[in-house]
Amino acid sequence: MKIAIPKERRPGEKRVAASPETVKKYVQMGAEVVVETGAGAGADIPDQAFVDAGAKIAPDAKAALGDADMVLKVQRPMTAAEGNDEAALLKKGAVLLAMLQPLQQREQVKGYAAAGIDAYAMELMPRITRAQSMDVLSSQSNLAGYKAVLDAAAVFGRAFPMMMTSAGTIAPARVFIMGVGVAGLQAIATAKRLGAVVSATDVRPATKEQVESLGGKFVWVDDEEARASQTAGGYAKEMSAEYKAKQAALIAETIKKQDIIITTALIPGRPAPVLVTEEMVKSMKPGSVIVDLAVEAGGNCPLSRPGEIVEAYGVKLVGHTNVPSRVAVDASALYAKNLFNFLTPHWDKEAKSFKFNREDETVSGICVTLGGQVVHPSLKEGA
Ligand code: NAI
Repeated sequence: MKIAIPKERRPGEKRVAASPETVKKYVQMGAEVVVETGAGAGADIPDQAFVDAGAKIAPDAKAALGDADMVLKVQRPMTAAEGNDEAALLKKGAVLLAMLQPLQQREQVKGYAAAGIDAYAMELMPRITRAQSMDVLSSQSNLAGYKAVLDAAAVFGRAFPMMMTSAGTIAPARVFIMGVGVAGLQAIATAKRLGAVVSATDVRPATKEQVESLGGKFVWVDDEEARASQTAGGYAKEMSAEYKAKQAALIAETIKKQDIIITTALIPGRPAPVLVTEEMVKSMKPGSVIVDLAVEAGGNCPLSRPGEIVEAYGVKLVGHTNVPSRVAVDASALYAKNLFNFLTPHWDKEAKSFKFNREDETVSGICVTLGGQVVHPSLKEGA
């Protein structure tokens, strides 16, 4: 069983899908691990650290991937149209694990099937208790939430904590977190640690308690619909127009008083909801900052721009893309561990290879192609 870890080639991607810790464990289990030279550079892992963990170093992607039985990646392979057909280097029958964006990249998924690659999309991991340690969205969003606060602090012309000095008192920054999933919760905790006065909102009423337990104030329209909105999977669903109007009015009032807003609201499979309108941006004080973590999904603010820091009405809008990659060392270590936690229950000691238990919902939930077919229910024709 040969596991390959190629260097990530998408622009701006600094993460890597294995750490010396996970490589060591794969090798101890009896797998052979090959790492492409420089794969860990963006995450401060030199080739030698992988060698010390028991890996071989391949001089290029072709050498790493050519005869690999399993390929661990962070991002989906680049395509021929993008100038580098990474998937073409995989052999027929190879297993590919990565964040494949299967719902957005259906043609590419069909390509994996046609090439006989068995592909697993890590972001489809079911959100069940047992799978928490395999949940790449959680491990990466947590770091994104943390980094978003630091990115805000970096362009904010004021301090976060209250400071009483002999020259006068500095008021604490007011930070408002919109969307309290994994990223939002970490943003609240980080802003609190920096000494800000923190409030937050979400359409899921269950988040009220979580916000308060972190010392934040919960801002929401408390009505019947909001209380009924928490769905079984723990995801938010689209709210009614009436609820949105009421919420927008309350939010508009709250926003005027904020120094920093961090937006994290996502709705799976749909464009991100607009939470901060142009009017709301206009109502903010000059020097305020908005960090839009949903910028890649269309943005929670129509004025934010992917990959840019723009200024509008005196407000700075931070639109960094791939925020987890901005904390590449920790993001790689956690992502690598997520993959390891998913894979190890399926290791067959006698055969010294992975034999996936197809009955296991962590397997069936993320397997998108198998034996030349697109197999995931959400990707079948007409789904
Ligand atoms: P997400 O990234 O999909 O969305 C972020 C947040 O935005 C969510 O809290 C959502 O309710 C909120 N949102 C959506 N539309 C909004 C609007 N119009 N206004 C305000 N907020 C809005 O969420 P994430 O981080 O993936 O977490 C979703 C839930 O799943 C959480 O309850 C989390 O605890 C749960 N979860 C469960 C796991 C497990 O059991 N294995 C693992 C990870 C998360």
